[in-house]
Amino acid sequence: MAVLVTGGAGYIGSHTVAALLERGEQLVVVDNLQQGHKAAMLGGVFYEGDLRDGAFLDRVFCENAIDAVIHFAANSLVGESMKDPGKYYHNNVYGTLCLLEKMNEHGVQRIVFSSTAATYGEPEEVPIKESDRTLPTNAYGETKLAMERMMNWFDVAHGMKYVSLRYFNAAGAYAGGKIGEDHNPETHLVPIVLQTALGKRPHISVFGDDYGTPDGTCIRDYIHVSDLADAHILAVDRLRKGGDSGIFNLGNGTGYSVKEVIECARRVTGRAIPMVVEARRAGDPAVLVASSERARSELGWTPSRDGLEDIIRSAWEWHLANPDGYGDK
Ligand code: UFG
Repeated sequence: MAVLVTGGAGYIGSHTVAALLERGEQLVVVDNLQQGHKAAMLGGVFYEGDLRDGAFLDRVFCENAIDAVIHFAANSLVGESMKDPGKYYHNNVYGTLCLLEKMNEHGVQRIVFSSTAATYGEPEEVPIKESDRTLPTNAYGETKLAMERMMNWFDVAHGMKYVSLRYFNAAGAYAGGKIGEDHNPETHLVPIVLQTALGKRPHISVFGDDYGTPDGTCIRDYIHVSDLADAHILAVDRLRKGGDSGIFNLGNGTGYSVKEVIECARRVTGRAIPMVVEARRAGDPAVLVASSERARSELGWTPSRDGLEDIIRSAWEWHLANPDGYGDK
């Protein structure tokens, strides 16, 4: 049986494809290549198309024996979602509805979902637990929460089991620099800092140094993309063994400030990395740090590339070898 990976040409999707291939899984990858890169997929049977195209999904499910889906395909930029929420509802929420309906029609009963810490909004306390209240502060997080809720009701009505993985800040690249992070436009801290180290940007803009944190800049929980990939495999295993639906945070449980990330990147790259403090970015919570106790105890997940330096070093290898990313956009 094969695993269907939607959005498998994207950043976290392609790293999960790499991990699934390493353990010899049969793979079918679907991506509309809106954000994804063909070169990021290291294998599997590839279908280019959109989840909202019912005939396309029928073909994918009819031509392959699929027993589980890992669902990454979605738009994921917080800022963009505040300017164009309709795009997020259409692609993320409606796209997921189309996928779940086709899964149900074709008798596929297991889905692992790429969710986010943005479902929590401004936390009441850190580290954040899965039982904490969800109150998204942006349209992106709201659509991911709606997608999770939809899965819950498909479970209640149809017995479709889901595992939702709420990522904190994904960073880093696959060992060896073969695949890595290449968004267009790039908005994430680690790649922007490393592009600055490469001289592709004049400086890194720090969005606010007046938060209530020790150095005044925002604190995030950075997690290696390959550790995230491993969690998806554990989640598929859980569902294949008949495990129940569940929601899991994925983070290291350690927070680093924006300034600490820049300092660490200076050490790793040996480059200056000029920095300019600017105004706060709308919608940024001051501190987001995960409690991943549930993932550790119930999924048996142990992040192994957990130092910020390891994460940045692996991303730097990718940036050095691919200064223009995949060079296709
Ligand atoms: N930052 C800067 N300068 C930049 C880019 C980012 O100072 O040029 C700061 C941000 O203000 C924030 C921190 O660096 O404080 C991290 O920002 P990212 O954009 O890298 O990541 P976010 O924490 O905003 O968002 C990420 C994912 C979202 C997800 C969220 C959940 O991109 O999809 O984590 O925590 F919803």
